[in-house]
Amino acid sequence: MNSTVINAMQLCYQNTQITKLVNDWHTQGKTVAFVPTMGGLHQGHLSLIDIAKQKADKVIVSIFVNPAQFGKNEDLDSYPRTLNADLTVLEVNVDGVFIPDVKQIYPKGISKHTDVGKIGQILCGKTRPHFFNGVAQVVEILFGIVRPDVAVFGQKDYQQLLVIKQMVKNSSLDICIESGETIREKSGLAMSARNQYLSENEAKIATNLYRILSYFKHEILQNKKVDVLKQLAEFDLKQYFKLDYLEALDANTLRQITGNTHQIVILSAVFLGSVRLIDNIIFKKG
Ligand code: PAF
Repeated sequence: MNSTVINAMQLCYQNTQITKLVNDWHTQGKTVAFVPTMGGLHQGHLSLIDIAKQKADKVIVSIFVNPAQFGKNEDLDSYPRTLNADLTVLEVNVDGVFIPDVKQIYPKGISKHTDVGKIGQILCGKTRPHFFNGVAQVVEILFGIVRPDVAVFGQKDYQQLLVIKQMVKNSSLDICIESGETIREKSGLAMSARNQYLSENEAKIATNLYRILSYFKHEILQNKKVDVLKQLAEFDLKQYFKLDYLEALDANTLRQITGNTHQIVILSAVFLGSVRLIDNIIFKKG
């Protein structure tokens, strides 16, 4: 498909189109920030675009539902695909949108050999062993096609952010990784494309995740024992959800908190019916 323009926003469907667009901008001395997404855009994505605008002259968003990061029994087919609504939101906000199909991204098929290291094997990597492989793979491919100066990711997917930072370092990519804070509904629920799967009642129940994580943080800052607090928080979570994991870890390494820990991250994943919710809170050790 040919590239098209909507209100000065360039739509690119093929790798060569987006690579040329960014090359032209670079030749003109402009810097480029990139926000990779799977669509289903919400305020969280818009906050990442705002950061991208502050960091570079031009902003590109990609919309690609990446099959490599979905497991066999997961929601690849039902994942929210809202392209028209997404483009309406992006029209007034970004300079270019990259909308590749699977053949553009994986011309030789999906490789299964991305090394995500230890940081990608714990927490979500344990429950969803394919997930970070798929994410690291697609982000590296997208970076190779788009060649941005800066890329912006949400802290809502905190472990993903660390896996991507590690991939960029390991592959010696000259791309600055920026991150944006989790954007929440008034109820405290972290915004996510998958929240569309929740019924009204489930959306209310889901607010308990952030409430319980916030209380866990509050109690850690009172210098109470993390192990004991964790057990209490797990007990609370189990009143509402099927617990996948809950951890309070060093935010830089995702290892156990030590005397050298400056920042803590509390991370959790829970199931509410068939919907898997993740959330986290990052804070300075008191
Ligand atoms: O966070 C997401 O939306 C996806 O995991 C990403 C980074 C766009 C890769 O497909």
